[in-house]
Amino acid sequence: MTRLNNKGGGTTTTTKSNRRGNDDDNNKNGKNSNNMILKMKLAFILLLIIQVITIITLKSSSTSTSTAVVCGQGLQSYSSNELESLSFNSPPRTRSSSSISSSSSNSVYDDYELARTQSFGFFDDIPSKQWKILQNIHYESFPNYYTKSTSSDSTKVNPHYNDPIILQQYSNTMNDKRNTKNQLKYSNWWNGENFQIEFHCPMMRRVPPTSQADGPKWSSSKSSNDSKSSKSKSECLIYSFGSNGKSEFEQGIKDVTKDSCEIHTFDMETYNKRNGHFNESLKGISTFHAWGLGTIEQSNRHPQTYKTLQQTMDVLGHTNRTIDIFKIDCEWCEWTTYTQWGIDTTTVDIRQILVETHNAPLPNARDFFFQLHDTGYVIYSKEANYQNAGGGVEFGFLKLHTDFFLNNTMYNYQL
Ligand SMILES: *[C@@H]1O[C@H](CO)[C@@H](O)[C@H](O)[C@H]1NC(C)=O
Ligand SMILES: *[C@@H]1O[C@H](CO)[C@@H](O)[C@H](O)[C@H]1NC(C)=O
Ligand SMILES: *[C@@H]1O[C@H](CO)[C@@H](O)[C@H](O)[C@H]1NC(C)=O
Ligand SMILES: *[C@@H]1O[C@H](CO)[C@@H](O)[C@H](O)[C@H]1NC(C)=O
Repeated sequence: MTRLNNKGGGTTTTTKSNRRGNDDDNNKNGKNSNNMILKMKLAFILLLIIQVITIITLKSSSTSTSTAVVCGQGLQSYSSNELESLSFNSPPRTRSSSSISSSSSNSVYDDYELARTQSFGFFDDIPSKQWKILQNIHYESFPNYYTKSTSSDSTKVNPHYNDPIILQQYSNTMNDKRNTKNQLKYSNWWNGENFQIEFHCPMMRRVPPTSQADGPKWSSSKSSNDSKSSKSKSECLIYSFGSNGKSEFEQGIKDVTKDSCEIHTFDMETYNKRNGHFNESLKGISTFHAWGLGTIEQSNRHPQTYKTLQQTMDVLGHTNRTIDIFKIDCEWCEWTTYTQWGIDTTTVDIRQILVETHNAPLPNARDFFFQLHDTGYVIYSKEANYQNAGGGVEFGFLKLHTDFFLNNTMYNYQL
């Protein structure tokens, strides 16, 4: 990219000075109209140069980074000294010290049972009263997609998908992958209309804190039984699929969790040529594995390149362990592998899914959101990938007990 840039710059400079020379000649001869035309040409060429430079700059800056946002009190356990040392502009309002000191005291603030139970122990400091409000907000958002019937407006119905009722407007089909010209251009509308944030997770944070473009995936963090200590390293497990040769997320999550999690990074590409040895850059942070998440068919055909999630866990000796954070950006593989994420099996248990979705191929995209919901996942973060014009979206899902869903609001859509 750099070489191309220099080359382009060099060529255009030459052109520019040649034109300048002609301008001078023309001025001497008094041919003002020609001069005008040449000036306009010059301006046009300058404009072109600026555009080329802009495109090149944009292209290189859109190289995606691997970053995320986390939420929740549990991953980062502050010592009381650290809390004291945090400076505030004004003194923070605190509860009576008795209610802070122990979660097992009889303080009125200790009615945390509802949140604790329905989040599998994840939130151990949200009062039941507040939790019920969260439940209601979630309930009110159901079904969480644009419900105006589109069947009467045939011009807006995706011609490739015949379901007249549900979510087909601005959607794609699985055959549209890479069909950017026509089929994918409206998926930003689909993403804009459907599946909004439905749960409010306290203390979300971006990981790493300085991250900018592609990729902010949010995670809301887990608190173990004892809120004063984070999980031991052997307990907390993080998988990151699709790295693009970047280690920011891994480094950031390691900093936030203060070393308490075991992190594994997966990618079919080793990125060794592009960025030096990628696996070396992860050293001390994460363990790299050179395979991607695949369907059963893919893993049967190319077992070195693809593994299912269950196979991955078995190979690494993680069978039956809870995955605390599962981050994935795999260019459409989400639509063909999501049922492995603990939906069609009880042997996979993921607490937080940080996924970048791509476009909205039906029926997979519909079933993806419906089934994650019906499994207990709530959307706590949604952020457009602006760099691809909102055709991609970063979602954060957190698993709760389906008792959280008031009135049993399930899609139960016939698949
Ligand atoms: C969680 O706490 C309960 C009671 O306080 C205890 O019985 C249980 O063993 C704890 N579980 C873990 C995983 O520490
Ligand atoms: C990284 O990968 C290279 C080959 O791709 C290998 O030789 C090296 O041992 C690996 N390093 C680590 C730390 O795994
Ligand atoms: C995983 O859990 C299942 C069901 O509880 C059990 O049958 C199996 O033996 C477990 N496997 C391992 C390796 O712990
Ligand atoms: C649940 O459904 C019942 C009956 O349809 C209704 O009366 C009740 O208000 C609903 N609950 C909530 C929280 O809206």
